[in-house]
Amino acid sequence: MHTPLVRPTGVARRFGIDEVIVTKTDLQGRLTYVNDVFLRVSCYDEQDVVGKPHNVIRHPEMPRAVFGLLWNEIQAGNEIFAYVNNLAADGAHYWVFAHVTPTRVNGRIVGYHSNRRVPDQAAVQAVTPVYRQLLAEEQRHSHPVHAIEASTRLLGEILADAGVTHDEFVWSLAGVAA
Ligand SMILES: Cc1cc2nc3c(=O)[nH]c(=O)nc-3n(C[C@H](O)[C@H](O)[C@H](O)COP(=O)(O)O)c2cc1C
Repeated sequence: MHTPLVRPTGVARRFGIDEVIVTKTDLQGRLTYVNDVFLRVSCYDEQDVVGKPHNVIRHPEMPRAVFGLLWNEIQAGNEIFAYVNNLAADGAHYWVFAHVTPTRVNGRIVGYHSNRRVPDQAAVQAVTPVYRQLLAEEQRHSHPVHAIEASTRLLGEILADAGVTHDEFVWSLAGVAA
């Protein structure tokens, strides 16, 4: 579990539309590589983060269900796209549109890789109330396992009601056909 050391200030940080925030992790989600854009936007020095769990930039308003889905997909060998709100070391937050994939050597998964770009603002506005709903569901449960179970169930219901997969949901937010 993540111990929140950084308090969000509510300040939104932006980065360039031509920039890509790149990180790579080992199988446990510990950072093995971060690019310069990640370091600048997240306000970390390389030595502060390499070897640390990726949740170092976890924002407390991000629902567990999203990360649960992320890990399920990548451990199963699949890619996933998701909108993620991240927390920089100075308390600023920055939304990204993330693509997370397994890294394979001779067919075996040896780690994970994520490329993130500036998200469509309308998509962030559309996903924010959904994440709030998931977080509120999680906050009704004191045990983290029950919290993630409940919000994962709720996310499944939201997607089923809309008649879409998570992938279709994500692409529909930006108005791009899946
Ligand atoms: C390649 C990769 C990229 C990830 N990128 C992020 C990210 O940008 N922000 C984030 O909060 N978690 C990211 N995660 C998920 C974290 O490993 C972690 O599951 C999440 O921060 C939730 O932390 P918690 O389980 O301690 O609550 C990534 C994981 C992997 C494998």
